[in-house]
Amino acid sequence: MQLIKTADFLTKHLSFLRTEDKNVTVGFIPTMGALHAGHLSLVEESVKQNDVTVCSIFVNPTQFGEEQDLVTYPKPIADDIRLLTEANCTVLFLPPVEEVYPKAYKHKTYALDGLDLKIEGASRPGHFQGVCNVLDRLFTLIEPTNAYFGQKDFQQTVVVKKLVELINSPTKICVLPIAREPHGLAMSSRNTRLSDQGRKNAAFIYRALQQLKEDVVTLGVTKALDKAKQFINAQKGASLDYLVIVDTDTLEEVDNLGDSNSVAALTVVEYEGVRLLDNIYLKA
Ligand code: PAF
Repeated sequence: MQLIKTADFLTKHLSFLRTEDKNVTVGFIPTMGALHAGHLSLVEESVKQNDVTVCSIFVNPTQFGEEQDLVTYPKPIADDIRLLTEANCTVLFLPPVEEVYPKAYKHKTYALDGLDLKIEGASRPGHFQGVCNVLDRLFTLIEPTNAYFGQKDFQQTVVVKKLVELINSPTKICVLPIAREPHGLAMSSRNTRLSDQGRKNAAFIYRALQQLKEDVVTLGVTKALDKAKQFINAQKGASLDYLVIVDTDTLEEVDNLGDSNSVAALTVVEYEGVRLLDNIYLKA
């Protein structure tokens, strides 16, 4: 695996590969490091589907609201490099901040039709604009054929699809299913902040979503949501941030499953002081 730290070297390297073979396909997995099996499943898929796989590790300051979250974000870089090498990743882009955001860089605002303002965006103002700024920059440098994202960050995948439309990027956005820990908790870099017991217990979030998927058919949206919220709030140490049932394209809340062709339930639960995201398709 080639480790590249500058934007200039990255673009030169990729353009060299493209002159060698003009049909070369490039798969891209943007990450913030602290890699787990969920990230590695994206790398594995990219390695299968593309000639070259580029992974970036960049803890993007523009998508963090609280400085503390940015400072305490886990950064186990030696482990990450080992995991990517074992996964046959071709290039790791590991830039310092000034390579992604040079002095002259102007933070952009994207017209995302409000997709960035609701649900997770309402709890984290500016977060999705920050994600779009870094991805626009990385997509421009890498020009990937395919870019891979996990379904765990559901709203992010909807926002990214809108972004590629807005910036006329030819990159295909590939969304892969949520990787889960043995007990059912959705894999996340933040899970390392949970105690061992907490990590097992937090599987109640996935159980709540699975039950909700059954209940919504028999009880309807409103009653099924109430039941799931009660269940989550009854778990010791859990505090529900949100649980919503939405159309998967517009992220608008739906009152009936029949109102939309594709519906998912999205949730964030705070447990042992960690915000845990999860979601499930109710209708696809
Ligand atoms: O999902 C993430 O890890 C980040 O939001 C991303 C896509 C790498 C952008 O910084």
